[in-house]
Amino acid sequence: MQVPLRPAWLALAEHARSIKHRHLRELFSADPERFDRFSLCHGKILLDYSKQRLGSQTMGLLRQLAEQSAWRTWVERMRAGEAINHTEGRAVRHVDLRAGAAAPPEVKDALARMADFCEQIHAGQWRGFSGERITDVVNIGIGGSDLGPRMAVHALAAFQHPDLSVHFVSNLDSADLASTLTRLNPRSTLFIIASKTFTTLETMANARTARNWVLAAANDDGAVARHFVAASTNLAATAEFGIAAQNVFEFWDWVGGRFSLWSAIGLPIALAIGFRNFERLLAGAHDMDEHFFNAPAESNLPLTLALVALWNTNFLNAHSHGVFPYSHSLALLPSHLQQLEMESNGKRANRDGLAVDYSTNPILWGEAGTNGQHSFFQLLHQGGALVASDFIALGKSDFPLPGHHSGLLANCLAQSSALAFGQTIEEARAAGIPEHLLAFRRFPGNQPSTTLILPELTPFTLGQLIALYEHKVFCLGVLWNLNSFDQWGVELGKQLAGRLAPCIRDEAPSDALDPSTRGLIKHLRRFRSNPDA
Ligand code: F6P
Repeated sequence: MQVPLRPAWLALAEHARSIKHRHLRELFSADPERFDRFSLCHGKILLDYSKQRLGSQTMGLLRQLAEQSAWRTWVERMRAGEAINHTEGRAVRHVDLRAGAAAPPEVKDALARMADFCEQIHAGQWRGFSGERITDVVNIGIGGSDLGPRMAVHALAAFQHPDLSVHFVSNLDSADLASTLTRLNPRSTLFIIASKTFTTLETMANARTARNWVLAAANDDGAVARHFVAASTNLAATAEFGIAAQNVFEFWDWVGGRFSLWSAIGLPIALAIGFRNFERLLAGAHDMDEHFFNAPAESNLPLTLALVALWNTNFLNAHSHGVFPYSHSLALLPSHLQQLEMESNGKRANRDGLAVDYSTNPILWGEAGTNGQHSFFQLLHQGGALVASDFIALGKSDFPLPGHHSGLLANCLAQSSALAFGQTIEEARAAGIPEHLLAFRRFPGNQPSTTLILPELTPFTLGQLIALYEHKVFCLGVLWNLNSFDQWGVELGKQLAGRLAPCIRDEAPSDALDPSTRGLIKHLRRFRSNPDA
């Protein structure tokens, strides 16, 4: 059945007509228990969605929609290893990577190899071509082979191994690799070439340049084996690149790129924080998996996040979703979630290949608090666009300094409160604002938000947090009837870039191109041949 024809969808559309125009002020004053009614706990994580523009009837209908979408059946199909990524004929089994004792043997073997490798690096047993110990690791990868590990390493800076620095290079722009290499010594630098396919243009270009950089210093092809390891599913391509088989950390096609930080793609994380801490990250994710699989719909955190997102997107027409971690360490979380959510559910063909006639994933963006407050929050408060937000806070700081954390938390709560309740003209007048400025001091409020509070930022709680969003994405895919695990939308641009590169180098004619692209190429060619012209 087409999603908008499901009985609960129709009932939600009807219900939205009556609740849509109610203000959060009104919803709170009508129900003093609202915070308790619309907040959930799992372990020490609190999810407060009382500042969302919904009521008990809304949640009841949303849960009916989840039932009518057979969300539990889809969970079981994923867990059973069915090829639910049907356009690529692949299973979706990232939860197996963090299943602990219940993980498949090949996963346990891969983790054991990663543990052994980390031990060799940390103990200084692994030496570079000149006999120096490894002091720097550069992860070369892009998309899912970069964003998740980069975010996790940044988030867990408090757990950073003292003798090893981990760097990330992703961009094809040589400024990325060049600026990283200037700070490094080829004798003590190890590269991880992280690519599921081992064909990605950016990664392979950076990997080749890095190899040349090492070889220029070593003057011996044997140095590659001391300075390059790979995380990949494509063993033929890693061999062709010259990476020794024992230096390849394998994973499998049933691990999607944006869900791959739990696999060998997580090697830079394990190196940065130590393998024991990496295991705690996996354990945190596993804990959230168990919660997701077993908790009833009413207390299920990922399902609730998904249902709230669907309500905001499809019934309140909020097409923008801000993620604001009030944690400097979580500053890269929005970038990771951008790929996780938008590459998964930013789609317009449903599972049957039919064009959907409802909105799918909103635009996700974000910034760490309090920085965002001094940049774009003005628009959220008074700009008029409906933007749904997630505020994420920590019970205690990972880098405590006297006085900072309480101020940070106060700002986090102040922003979500101001967004929800705003300020009326009367309140502004009562606060002593002069008459001629009253119009400028009105805040309409009614911007919906959810607040997530983690007790602290550790490998375990970070694992829980990431898995929470992964399962939210899964649920939304089910509710929107999408395949969340392919990403055909990024292919067209890649193909075009392949065709345009020779035109830019003046090795192929550009006559057949569209007039705008042709004009741009002409301009660039002129500039490249004579930059001073
Ligand atoms: O272009 C999108 C994408 O395929 C992502 O899904 C993926 O995470 C990224 O490219 C990198 O792919 P790979 O790990 O194969 O280099």
